[in-house]
Amino acid sequence: MAGVISDLDFRRDSESVEVVEEIARLERKIFPKHESLARSFLEEVRKKNSGLLYLKIGKGKGEEEIVGYVMYSWISSLCASITKLAVKENHRRQGHGEALLKAAIQKCRTRKVQRICLHVDPMRTPAVSLYNKIGFQIDEFIECYYSPERNAYRMYLDFND
Ligand SMILES: CC(C)(COP(=O)(O)OP(=O)(O)OC[C@H]1O[C@@H](n2cnc3c(N)ncnc32)[C@H](O)[C@@H]1OP(=O)(O)O)[C@@H](O)C(=O)NCCC(=O)NCCS
Repeated sequence: MAGVISDLDFRRDSESVEVVEEIARLERKIFPKHESLARSFLEEVRKKNSGLLYLKIGKGKGEEEIVGYVMYSWISSLCASITKLAVKENHRRQGHGEALLKAAIQKCRTRKVQRICLHVDPMRTPAVSLYNKIGFQIDEFIECYYSPERNAYRMYLDFND
């Protein structure tokens, strides 16, 4: 089912605190504690240099649920970073992750950055495949990045304009 991607905007959207709480609940379910931003989500998305997109789908009877989200930040005038991407387990493999990632890349590009980078645990093969599909390349393998047992790839996507 196709969903609608929205941009979280605290100035415009009176429901934004509820949205963040719903996303924080997803975050807790999807990521282990050391990788989870659940407790600091609100502070993270309030930072001026970061943004959050989320995807909602209808679940019947006029109700909607958030099934995925992506967080990004501009780390310098030339470089942005994808800091989170997740889709609810029973809604995976329907194109939502790819749609969210592409939407976040578009957002990052509004500030004319030349590079988007991210970190991902190599064990997260669906995510690594998705990043490869979109054109991200592996820059570096960083041991113990997330925890003593969990490493990371640093990946990047460059723009030549
Ligand atoms: C990574 C994740 C966001 C992908 O979301 P998704 O909605 O299932 O992905 P999509 O349906 O848009 O798939 C797009 C591409 O991703 C890759 N992919 C997705 N799931 C995959 C899987 N289980 N195995 C291999 N490749 C996979 C494929 O390249 C796929 O393209 P294809 O359909 O042409 O083969 C989702 O698996 C997830 O939330 N994982 C847990 C959290 C996570 O690892 N986040 C990233 C690190 S921060």
